[in-house]
Amino acid sequence: MTASELRKKYLEFFQSKGHAVISGKSLIPENDPTVLFNTAGMQPLVPYLLGAAHPLGTRLTDVQKCVRTGDIESVGDPSHLTFFEMLGNWSLGDYFKNEALSWSFEFLTSPRWLGISPDKLWVTVFAGEDGIPRDEESADLWKSLGIPAHRISYLGRKDNWWGPAGQTGPCGPDSEMFYDTGRPCPKGEACEGPSCGCGRWLEIWNDVFMQYNKTAEGQYELLSKPNVDTGMGVERTSTILQGKKSVYETELFTPILAAVQKATGVTYGNSDGDDTNIRIICDHIKTACFILGDDLGVTPSNVGQGYVLRRLIRRAVRCGRKLGVLEPFLAGPAAAVLDIYRGVYDEVASRSALIFEELTREEEKFLKTLEHGEHEFEKMLPNLERNPKKEIPGRLAFKLYDTYGFPIEITEELAAEHGMTVDRPGFDEAFVKHQELSKAGADKTFKGGLADHSEMTTKLHTATHLMHKALQMVLGEHARQKGSNITPERLRFDFSHGEKMTEEQLRRVEAIVNEQIQRALPVSMTTMPIQEAKGLGAMALFGEKYEDVVKVYRIGDFSLEVCGGPHVENTGSLGHFRILKEEASSAGVRRIRAVLEDR
Ligand code: SER
Repeated sequence: MTASELRKKYLEFFQSKGHAVISGKSLIPENDPTVLFNTAGMQPLVPYLLGAAHPLGTRLTDVQKCVRTGDIESVGDPSHLTFFEMLGNWSLGDYFKNEALSWSFEFLTSPRWLGISPDKLWVTVFAGEDGIPRDEESADLWKSLGIPAHRISYLGRKDNWWGPAGQTGPCGPDSEMFYDTGRPCPKGEACEGPSCGCGRWLEIWNDVFMQYNKTAEGQYELLSKPNVDTGMGVERTSTILQGKKSVYETELFTPILAAVQKATGVTYGNSDGDDTNIRIICDHIKTACFILGDDLGVTPSNVGQGYVLRRLIRRAVRCGRKLGVLEPFLAGPAAAVLDIYRGVYDEVASRSALIFEELTREEEKFLKTLEHGEHEFEKMLPNLERNPKKEIPGRLAFKLYDTYGFPIEITEELAAEHGMTVDRPGFDEAFVKHQELSKAGADKTFKGGLADHSEMTTKLHTATHLMHKALQMVLGEHARQKGSNITPERLRFDFSHGEKMTEEQLRRVEAIVNEQIQRALPVSMTTMPIQEAKGLGAMALFGEKYEDVVKVYRIGDFSLEVCGGPHVENTGSLGHFRILKEEASSAGVRRIRAVLEDR
């Protein structure tokens, strides 16, 4: 069964169970500033999972593009990917465990649908932890469906609990379905089953029973109506349906694999090391194409989504380099990605010119960096080789990084080639001292998505606060923030307001913001309990995920807003504020794009 047939069957099956098919959303979340990408099908649906009414009812199904970089270290193995598609069915306060599990089982095993042998299925259920009870109900349901007790594992929070996606929000115990690939476990008979991590068990589907809302105080409140959120992986399920050993052998990857072999001249299947590099390139190039080709797509940069994109492309280039490729080579594999998804995700293929241009530009830039850094390294070499410890001092590795943009991993590789090591703690120390941003911080940005601190985005962030307040002054208190997205080029701000703003209103908002800039107001920050902030009348996002102690930013006498920062110290540095566009975002929500310009 091809992936297209799988997508089609899934939607058809859940339609036959009364679900409305909704379209998948952009990879980049529209109204959730806490995450860089949609990492699960449920993310665009959070407002509905928290109780808002969905116009299409209480049973929904869709296919959602996802990007997850949290598992990046595992990419290269048979099943972990940074880009994947998630099939999902949702009950918004409608059915619960019984229907969810019975339908999962029916879809997986019925010859009319996927026809997977029930003997190959193992499942896990929540063992109970932190006062939340063991999920005997799900275990009993699985037994009644024919899964014998020895193929049902009870696991704790680490394995059988999902969510919330951010700090707060819907979450609950889940039940996961695994396919037994039959691959031998090194522990033999002592294999621990699905939680073993031995590669025998492939997780294909997760049914989450969202019974709780995690509050900002860390409490688990029962939701008034529990929901079901399920996620089935298209790539993994296709792999087993096609009897393949890895996702890379399905039609969702074989053309990319062929293109990478052609571009690198290295044949797949000859060496484990080379194969891993080839797989990482295949994965990363696909993800890069989807980020570049998204409707809300971004280009490589040092902030936010653009930074993740840059890291993925550069890592692919480094893997290519390990395979001996020293020229840009990603365009061919990218063309293969575009071909695979033509007719499925047309937004990507329709941006082919931009994708090729940006990829090649980034490759060239990075190759230059590498060339430059290698040259400097060779110049240092005679001195380094005299060092009896055969260790490159951290401050030199940092100089290569700081002055020539040379990644530490490459310095380590080059050192190894000359029988040396790098003083990594020394490097990290220098890094922290000079950058005020730890290596861990940089990795975290890559993995989870910290706010970025570059100068322009900081300024735009402060301008956003000024504009938020100005909008309330011009339109009324109802004009509250619904979403915010800042790139180094512009701010984008969503707020509640029922109608198009008039030209006059827009000019007034601009004038108010520019006046506050001219007043050169000081910006200060204090931390306080959220209740106190509310008491002071600080603006805060309704329903936003706040820790109990929050940062409150005060801009002179003009604005007071709960926010993580960062902000400029004085509004005098912002330049001139200009609104580019005001348009509808969704029902009752307007969107403004604005910039700061030199005066
Ligand atoms: N949210 C769950 C997951 O991502 C099920 O969709 O696994």
